[in-house]
Amino acid sequence: MRVLSGIQPTGNLHLGNYLGAIRNWVKMQDEMDADSQCFFFLADMHSITVHEAREQRIRNVRDMAAALVAAGIDPDRSVLFNQARVPAHAELCWLLNGTARIGWLNRMTQFKDKAGKDREGASVGLFVYPVLQAADILAYNATHVPVGEDQKQHLELARDIAAKFNSDFSVDLFTLPDPIIPKESARIMSLRDGSAKMSKSDPSDMSRINLTDDDDAIMAKVKKAKSDPENLPETAAGLAGRPEASNLVGILATLTGRTPDAVCAEFAGQGFGAFKPALGEVLVETLRPIRQRFLELRTDDAALDAILDKGAAKAAAAAEPTLRAAYDAMGLMR
Ligand code: TYM
Repeated sequence: MRVLSGIQPTGNLHLGNYLGAIRNWVKMQDEMDADSQCFFFLADMHSITVHEAREQRIRNVRDMAAALVAAGIDPDRSVLFNQARVPAHAELCWLLNGTARIGWLNRMTQFKDKAGKDREGASVGLFVYPVLQAADILAYNATHVPVGEDQKQHLELARDIAAKFNSDFSVDLFTLPDPIIPKESARIMSLRDGSAKMSKSDPSDMSRINLTDDDDAIMAKVKKAKSDPENLPETAAGLAGRPEASNLVGILATLTGRTPDAVCAEFAGQGFGAFKPALGEVLVETLRPIRQRFLELRTDDAALDAILDKGAAKAAAAAEPTLRAAYDAMGLMR
């Protein structure tokens, strides 16, 4: 089993990232057997689709590395690195640009969302973004890719690109990766709008819980979270058509390892005035140790850089044979 996943180092790690993806990364790392390997990386090459000043970009990469280690990624057991340090990603992306079809990319909903109305003004990088993501995955022949729901379409594209390349060049080079998407927390929604996902790019900080938020900020955000005036139902079926209520119940269920039915049973007949403090309490207790560790780790840039150095060397060695085989399959002499 080869586990691989990435996160863009833009802004803070938020609760959606943590419950949708990172918690699963840590679980898979911790349950890994001797034949398995985990690769986790900071997708800084992807982050060029968002303009950022040089110093900020450097800070973001170190901060996200610190956040992942604080959340439980162990750089001695998993390969932790930033994409820009491993040229195989960009090289393989270019090779796969010959395989990916414009029609496939045109269907990517994330491109449509991020480009918005001004398609002509969107960067070429934003359009080709999913091909780089396919290269990230295929360069390592990853078998399992733990992600949130919003990455599902990109994973399907990676499979399509792998299958077409293998077929076009009559090789059995690329492994078709399987997305690993959690059942309950695949799509954590904004605290201000139950129809929008929690996101780093939402202009309202009240819409998300950041890893850097202190106890009081977490409590305040939960108490101000949008809910509804109804009481909690006996079972989760009673949450139908109540997106904000479903989201809050889902978050507590995930954090406490219970089903939404069990959470509803506990609070049945009570309103959000009773539910929210309980949710806030669990969130504070879950995030506090991660935040404390993060704040400690981010004071030592040299230690973070050493982790990324070591990870990049291991990642480059792991990607090299596949990259070489891809050049060779295409008849590109080097
Ligand atoms: P990114 O940086 O947007 O998000 C990182 C991970 O967090 C998940 N996620 C969520 N899960 C549940 N609810 C939410 N509200 C939520 N918001 C984010 C994402 O699904 C993701 O798993 N393109 C990727 C990074 C990437 C990648 C890769 C991932 C680049 N190359 C190769 C896997 C394999 C991205 O922008 O994730």
